[in-house]
Amino acid sequence: MDGTGDKTAELFHGQAQLYRLMYLWMSSLCLKCAIELEIPDIIHEHGQPISLSQLVSDLKVPPSKTTFLKGLMRLLAHNGLFTIIKSNNNEEESEVSYDLTSASRLLVNGTDHCLSSMVQLTVSPALLDLYQNLGKWVRGEENTLRETSFGVGVYEFLAQNPEDLAVFQEAMASDSRFMKLVMKDLESVFDGLNSIVDVGGGTGTTAKIICEAFPKLKCTVLDLPEVVSNLSGNSNVSFVGGDMLKSIPHADAVLIKWVLHDWGDDDCLKILKNAKEAISGNGKGGKVIIIDTVLNEKEEQHEVLETKLLLNIMLAAEFNSKERSEEEWKKLFLKAGFTDYQIFPIFGFRSLIVLNP
Ligand SMILES: C[S@@+](CC[C@H](N)C(=O)[O-])C[C@H]1O[C@@H](n2cnc3c(N)ncnc32)[C@H](O)[C@@H]1O
Repeated sequence: MDGTGDKTAELFHGQAQLYRLMYLWMSSLCLKCAIELEIPDIIHEHGQPISLSQLVSDLKVPPSKTTFLKGLMRLLAHNGLFTIIKSNNNEEESEVSYDLTSASRLLVNGTDHCLSSMVQLTVSPALLDLYQNLGKWVRGEENTLRETSFGVGVYEFLAQNPEDLAVFQEAMASDSRFMKLVMKDLESVFDGLNSIVDVGGGTGTTAKIICEAFPKLKCTVLDLPEVVSNLSGNSNVSFVGGDMLKSIPHADAVLIKWVLHDWGDDDCLKILKNAKEAISGNGKGGKVIIIDTVLNEKEEQHEVLETKLLLNIMLAAEFNSKERSEEEWKKLFLKAGFTDYQIFPIFGFRSLIVLNP
C-alpha cells in the first residue's frame, strides 16, 4: 500500500502533534499523582532503584492498579522524573526498576530543596479551573484572569483567602530555600553591607538564609501587612508591613527576588525608583540585587525556554505582566535612573542582576 504521500504524512504528523498537546495536561496531573502517592519518598527510602512489584507492594494499592502504575512511571520517566533501569536477565522475565533523577529528588519530603508545595500550588484544581477561562478573559475588559472569575487580582484574592495565602507563601518559601545553594557565590555581592531590605520577601526564608551566611547583616523583610503581621523576626531579621509601590525602607542594599516579573513596566519603574531612593543614603556604594528571569530566546536550551514561556503566559494572564529580555530590563533600569547593571546566570532559569546607582 502506498497511501502515504507527502500530504498524508503531513496530516498524520499534525494529528500526532495535536494529540500530544491536547493530552499534555495529563503530564502535570501524573506528576501531582506521583507526589500524592509519595513515590519519590518511597524510592528515596528504598535506597536503591525500586522494581514495579516492590513499588506496588510499598504503595499498598490493589494489584489491579499495576498496569496504571507501570504507565505512570513510564510517562514520568519519559518526562525526566525517573530513570528506568533494565536488569540484564533474560528479556522476557526481566523486571525494570525505577530510580530518582535530579528533578524527582526535589520531591522527597523533609529535604532542604523539596518543591512539592510548589507543585501542589501550581497543579491545584482551583488554578486549573481558573485557566479554563483564558478565552473569556482575552475577549473581556478585565485586566487579569483572576478578575474575570473573582473580581480581584492575585494579591487581593490572597488577602481575602488566608488558607490560599498560606499555601502560596509556603510554595514561595520552598523556592527561596534554593538561595542556600548560591550564598557562597554571592560573597562579593553581600560583602561590606550592613543592612538590606528584601522587598516582597514573603515569610522571610531568603532573609534568614542571607543572615545565616552573613551574620553581621541586618535584613528587613518588606511585604504586604497580611503576609508579615503575625511574623516575629530575630536579632538579624525584622518584618515590616507596607507597599513597595509607595516606599521601601532605607538600607545599604535592596533585594528583589522573583517580584518584578509580577508587575507591568509602570509599576516596575515605581518599585525600582523606590529601591534607588532606599539605597540613596549609601551614595555610590548602595546596590539593588534582583533575582528574576532574563529571556534569551535565541540561546536558551529547549526545556528552559519552555519553562520561561509557560511562566510568561501565567504572568500575562494573572498579572498583566511578562518575562523580560535583557533589552527590556535595561530600558527599565536606565529609566529608573540606574547607570550600570550586571547579569549573572547563577540561579537556574533565573539570573542575578546587580544594579548600581
Ligand atoms: C512571587 S512572590 C515572591 C516572594 C519571595 N520574594 C520569593 O522569592 O520567595 C511576590 C511577593 O510580593 C509580595 N507583594 C505583592 N504586592 C506587594 C506590595 N505592594 N508591597 C510589598 N510586597 C508585595 C507578595 O505578598 C509576595 O510575597
